[in-house]
Amino acid sequence: MSVLVSDLTELIGDTPLLELRRYGANRRLGARLLAKLELQNPVGSVKDRIAWAMIRDAEERGALAPGGTIVDLTSGNTGIALAAIAAARGYESIFYAGDNISPDKVALLRAFGSTIVEVPNTFFLDPDALVLLRERAQKEHPEAYFTDQLGNPANPRYHYDTTGPEIWNATSGAVDILVGGVGTGGTLSGAGRYLKERKPELRVVVAEPGLGSVPTEENPYPKEIDGVHKITEAEPQQIPDNFDQSIADEFIALETPDAFATSRALAREEGLLAGTSAGANIFVATQLARRPENEGKTIVAIICDSAERYLSAGIFEEPVG
Ligand SMILES: Cc1ncc(COP(=O)(O)O)c(C=O)c1O
Repeated sequence: MSVLVSDLTELIGDTPLLELRRYGANRRLGARLLAKLELQNPVGSVKDRIAWAMIRDAEERGALAPGGTIVDLTSGNTGIALAAIAAARGYESIFYAGDNISPDKVALLRAFGSTIVEVPNTFFLDPDALVLLRERAQKEHPEAYFTDQLGNPANPRYHYDTTGPEIWNATSGAVDILVGGVGTGGTLSGAGRYLKERKPELRVVVAEPGLGSVPTEENPYPKEIDGVHKITEAEPQQIPDNFDQSIADEFIALETPDAFATSRALAREEGLLAGTSAGANIFVATQLARRPENEGKTIVAIICDSAERYLSAGIFEEPVG
């Protein structure tokens, strides 16, 4: 449908589902795999939704005034989405990110005029890192509005109001399993809650990085699955407030090479450029689709962003496995 809009934010959401027919047939999968193309949001990721939700909420409450400044902690996509919407509405933006952030994402943040404060990745080995970094950001920028993607209830609420109903409507209620990762937890908590209210037997499965894909003292810079955290075995203060732990029925761990290989397979077999967490979600969805009990079921996996954001991370540098 062709539309004419006068504000970038009007283009957020209503993303399509793509059935991965060739990918599924090539592997003789018994379940139907559907990819929720969040990379089609105007600034290119699932985070466009929550960036707009948090800015709109702040504007409505009068907490963000014209010419104001936004600050948050981000592994990239939330910052990029906030930076773009801030630019479109006349705000400044400042983001604190780990120094493992992909150079492609830094370039995008700079394109929108943001300031980036890089924090050594070793800092995040401290279980209290997020709390400490939040305090630091607020202390260094008392004038700014802290959007707080990890704890702002506008984040999961927006997914409850939009992402969940979109998946329900596009599948005419046929969705049986929702697969995603947890960065803030907003996507799965919001969309998952909506879908479970409609269909209590629906299962929410979390794709989480395995032990070899998270920073440690010995290896503070492993190849990571961008934007998502290991939730099982995390300290309580490391679990984002926006992740409703009661929503997850199962956690499946995978390592970064499997996520990258799945992104490569999606490019070759479907022409779909899926980022690293999207590759992880499809890898996990593929495992679920092989289980006999899921024969004939419909699995929806979130394609959080595009592989174009990870070209310099070498996502396409190895042959298809
Ligand atoms: C690439 C990517 N994938 C997945 C996620 C996780 O989404 P959520 O914050 O809704 O849990 C994020 C969030 O930072 C992300 O940037």
